[in-house]
Order: sequence, then C-alpha cells, then structure tokens
Amino acid sequence: MKRRRYHLLITAGPTREPIDPVRFISNHSTGTLGYTLARLAVRRGHRVTLITGPTELAAPGGIRRVDVETAGEMEQALTKAFGKADALIMGAAVADFRPIRVSTQKIKRSGVSGSLRLWELELIENPDIVAGAARHRKPHQVIVGFALETERLLANARAKLKSKNLDAIVATQLSPKGKGRGPFGADPVDGAILDKSGRTKSFVRLPKTLLAARILATVESLLASRQ
Ligand code: CTP
Repeated sequence: MKRRRYHLLITAGPTREPIDPVRFISNHSTGTLGYTLARLAVRRGHRVTLITGPTELAAPGGIRRVDVETAGEMEQALTKAFGKADALIMGAAVADFRPIRVSTQKIKRSGVSGSLRLWELELIENPDIVAGAARHRKPHQVIVGFALETERLLANARAKLKSKNLDAIVATQLSPKGKGRGPFGADPVDGAILDKSGRTKSFVRLPKTLLAARILATVESLLASRQ
C-alpha cells in the first residue's frame, strides 16, 4: 500500500524571554529531538514546517524553517502555519513565564538598591501554545505534545494530555544527576508515549533517532485513522 504524505508542523528548541538587551530567561533545550523528527519526516516524504527557537543545529534541507525567539513569536508563527498542517508535533520547550517589563537599557547592578541588593524580577504567564492550537483544531488535525518531568512522570503526562486536549504525549524523564543530560542534547532518553485511548508505551535509554521514529509512527497511524 502506498504511504500517505502529510504536512507536519514541528516546533523545536527553547524560547528566550528577554529581561534587557543582554539577558534572557530560557531553558536547557537544544532542539535535538525536534530537528531529528524534521529530518526523518522529510525522509519519509512528508512536507515539514519547522518553527524553531534559537539552537546550534542546522535545519535539514527540504523543509520550511521559521526562526523565532520568544513564546509570543512562536505562538504567532504557529497560528499562521497551523491551519494548513495535518499534524502538530509540539517539541519546543516554551518558557512558561516572561518578564513583565523588558528594559531597553542594560539593567545595572548599581541600580539595584538595598543593602542585600535583592533584585526581584516580575514575571507574567505566557500563553499555552499547544493548548491554544488544540482549541482551534479541525477534527482531522492530530496534535502531539511533550511533557518534561522530574517526578510522577506518567501521572503528570496523562494530566497534560487531558488538560491540553492532545492526541498523544511524549513524556520524558529528566536524568538523575551524573547520568547524562537527557532529555537535553544527544543522550538517550527514558520515558513513555501515552495516547488518548489509554495506551502507554514506555522506553528506557532510547536513542533520539529511534524515539523520533516511534513518534512519527504514532503520528502517521493517528492521521491514517482520521482519513
Ligand atoms: N507548551 C506550550 N506552551 C507553553 C508551555 C508548554 O505549548 N507556554 C507545550 C510544550 O511544547 C509541550 C507541552 O506544552 O508540548 C508540555 O510542556 P511542559 O513544559 O512539559 O509543561 P507545562 O504545560 O509547561 O507544565 P509544567 O511547567 O507545570 O510542567
């Protein structure tokens, strides 16, 4: 049987939320899994749009790449592209909060007053991008999210799957100290893929190339069941 080709929208990397012209809030995401997914998806004949936060990685050829910095920019780019996609794979590590005010000048240490020089940074919540996409989806569109957890991996991931109204979620466990940096970077990962119908497929020390293949197989089978 001929394999169906789809338009996949993939997000990858961290977002950066500026504090002033030289500082930002971000996280340890490297974009490795999202870029691996994009590469594999192209190889499997799919059309790929990759919305990416800042990373050191080269994007694979044959994709449409949209570079963003902040969660707000990622939301805008995604809102534009989502309508034309069959599936969204939300791999980006979106910063949940951003500074409420962005200083136009570098904030000087001498400008922080008090004997302790205690600097309080006021943050405001960013939009939940994947949950927003799920609210506006068409019935045939598949949405897969991710959950990075340090505790209660499966329970937390299942709660996110439900509350964000996703079709499946890839739960990854932060490696214990001294055992690599997974799920950040090139190390293998521990975790599970959970879907809406209650299935949980766990994996241990799985290389990201193999994890990407499993995620893509999940997306393709969800899409095939909707056509
Ligand atoms: N996500 C998003 N927008 C945000 C935060 C997260 O779209 N503002 C997406 C991520 O891309 C991921 C999923 O939601 O696919 C779960 O992200 P995660 O950081 O694990 O969870 P949070 O929703 O941020 O919850 P918490 O920080 O409480 O674990």
